[in-house]
Amino acid sequence: MSNILEVKNLTKKFKDFTAVNSISFSIKKGEIFGLVGPNGAGKTTTIKILSTLLPPTSGEASIGGFNVSKDAPKVRRLIGYVPQLLSADGSLTGYENLLVFAKLYDIPASEREKRIKDSLHFMGLSDSADKMVRQYSGGMIRRLEIAQAVLHHPLILFLDEPTVGLDPLAREGVWDYVKQLSDSGTTILLTTHYMEEADAMCNNVAILNRGNIAAIGSPAELKKTIGNESASLNEVYEFYVGNSIDSEKIGGNFKDVSRTRRTAHRLG
Ligand SMILES: Nc1ncnc2c1ncn2[C@@H]1O[C@H](COP(=O)(O)OP(=O)(O)OP(=O)(O)O)[C@@H](O)[C@H]1O
Ligand SMILES: [Mg+2]
Repeated sequence: MSNILEVKNLTKKFKDFTAVNSISFSIKKGEIFGLVGPNGAGKTTTIKILSTLLPPTSGEASIGGFNVSKDAPKVRRLIGYVPQLLSADGSLTGYENLLVFAKLYDIPASEREKRIKDSLHFMGLSDSADKMVRQYSGGMIRRLEIAQAVLHHPLILFLDEPTVGLDPLAREGVWDYVKQLSDSGTTILLTTHYMEEADAMCNNVAILNRGNIAAIGSPAELKKTIGNESASLNEVYEFYVGNSIDSEKIGGNFKDVSRTRRTAHRLG
């Protein structure tokens, strides 16, 4: 199978701080690829570069053969993006939220209703289409956000922490739908802090630590690299990331954490 996404020596600096440090990886068509790593590792920064929202400092990335910097408009047509923070409007219904995105993606007016209904059905939200999103549960909101991001049938979907702040059952629900999307041919790049889920869901996983790829491979390959094929992915993660939490990093990420918490609170 051919590569749908290629990243080569990608680097992002914020002033003199290197958030992403010359990372390289590729994703094959149909794959579910997991980007894991501690807070501040550079996961969201990487996804924002791949989504054309942030320019890289150096290095290259391409999607479907198009360069994310030079061919940004073409890349945008090929991707769907569900950000880490809330992207649905609570004061609109599920249907209305999708209508906003249908217009944004230039889906012809004559096709909009069918496309929206199909995507509500696909994500298990048909019965809640006319409810205000502020009445949705956290899991339903996340599913609606995924429906928004795939309305234009992207080749690849970026999911930044799709299950943050969700209870175990709602998390399972979201993963079921992600799996279905993958089965229907969408390539997926996701980030998560739940290693059991990355282990179960992902064909390949990159462990990012302080902007560097510490290890990359299928969950089984990663376990082999630490000499324990029966290890959990969490053990692999701890092996590579270790105790990398330091006060400087916590300080640097307070804003991110508090934002995530607020989102989790809003969702909960
Ligand atoms: N616009 C910005 N300006 C300056 N520094 C930034 C900016 N965006 C991110 N950073 C820093 O870059 C580093 C990587 O942040 P990023 O959000 O990519 O991490 P992450 O892996 O997504 O973490 P989390 O698991 O908390 O979501 C962090 O130290 C963060 O504070
Ligand atoms: Mg992040």
